[in-house]
Amino acid sequence: MIVLGIETSCDECAAAVVEDGRRILSNVVATQIPFHREYSGVVPELASRKHTEWIYGVVEEALLRAEKTPGNIDGIAATALPGLMGSLLVGLTFAKAFAWARRIPFLACNHILAHLYAARLCENGPAYPYIGLLVSGGHTIICRVDDFDTVEVLGTTIDDAVGEAFDKVAKYYGLGYPGGVHIDKAAGRGDDGVFAFPVPKLHKGEHRYDVSYSGLKTAVVNQLEQFRKKGTPGDLNTCDIAASFQKTAVEILLGALLRACGDTGIKTVVSGGGVAANSYLRSRLARCDGLTCIFPPLDLCGDNGAMVAGLACQYFLRGDSSPLSTTASARVKEFKRRYP
Ligand code: KG4
Ligand code: ZN
Repeated sequence: MIVLGIETSCDECAAAVVEDGRRILSNVVATQIPFHREYSGVVPELASRKHTEWIYGVVEEALLRAEKTPGNIDGIAATALPGLMGSLLVGLTFAKAFAWARRIPFLACNHILAHLYAARLCENGPAYPYIGLLVSGGHTIICRVDDFDTVEVLGTTIDDAVGEAFDKVAKYYGLGYPGGVHIDKAAGRGDDGVFAFPVPKLHKGEHRYDVSYSGLKTAVVNQLEQFRKKGTPGDLNTCDIAASFQKTAVEILLGALLRACGDTGIKTVVSGGGVAANSYLRSRLARCDGLTCIFPPLDLCGDNGAMVAGLACQYFLRGDSSPLSTTASARVKEFKRRYP
């Protein structure tokens, strides 16, 4: 089955063609980062306008690279939630119009499930159940994954998402936008033992698998004030800050993750989302004794259409599709939440 997947939930205008939910025939990601950089954040109105301008060309390019025509597509999917309303509507409306014109099934995809599916875009995906670790600019979710559409949220962030913390710290230290990749690079030149930043103690009661990043972010930003009292932070200081921040950010995740694995007895962790590209997170998880940690390839960590097409294919193969009346939603409500 050949599925076209469209992703426009935020600032990437993406489309991909995937065969049988596993084999990527094309994966086109047109990033809007240069347009949002001067504002140090995504401007929703600008994002939806760019999606409107680009969507046709991006889909055309995905078909071209896959050597397919619209007539070869058996099903089409687009991200419907969560995300920026105006941006979501562009991809979703395009996909619905395509489905209607071609008389093929349409699926409205959940972005969180799509990120969790990204690591399955290979011949031998991990066996269920596993612990999902979704880490992105908008989400930090630790969940039990029993199937492509069956997820139980165990823990989440109680304030900032981990990617958001990377982006904010990078912004304060002038490292670049979006910050994650710049912090990752600077950290490679720094010493992660120079600064001791706080790790919140959330391991009891209903927050057992939750994380918090606002305290860490504030501590790292306050350190900048300390530097400023003496001048400006030198390059070396900034790299040490980046390394110490990154290490603490990952330790926070790891604490909640290890509690989730220990309590559920599930020893396989599958990650997804932009922060899953982080080199320290990848190497630190690989060093966890007794855990098997699976990451998507780097180009499937951030937002992309392949994860949407792959996930949608699983629904189509089960005979499910979405009505063309389905609309977008900025938030997700349907996940079950379990407390220990
Ligand atoms: O999944 P994604 O592309 O979009 C959302 O759904 O949010 O994730 C984007 C986030 C940004 O916060 C970005 O800074 C972060 O992923 N990111 C990274 C790295 N690459 C991207 N964070 C840490 N290390 C990286 N190498
Ligand atoms: Zn995402």
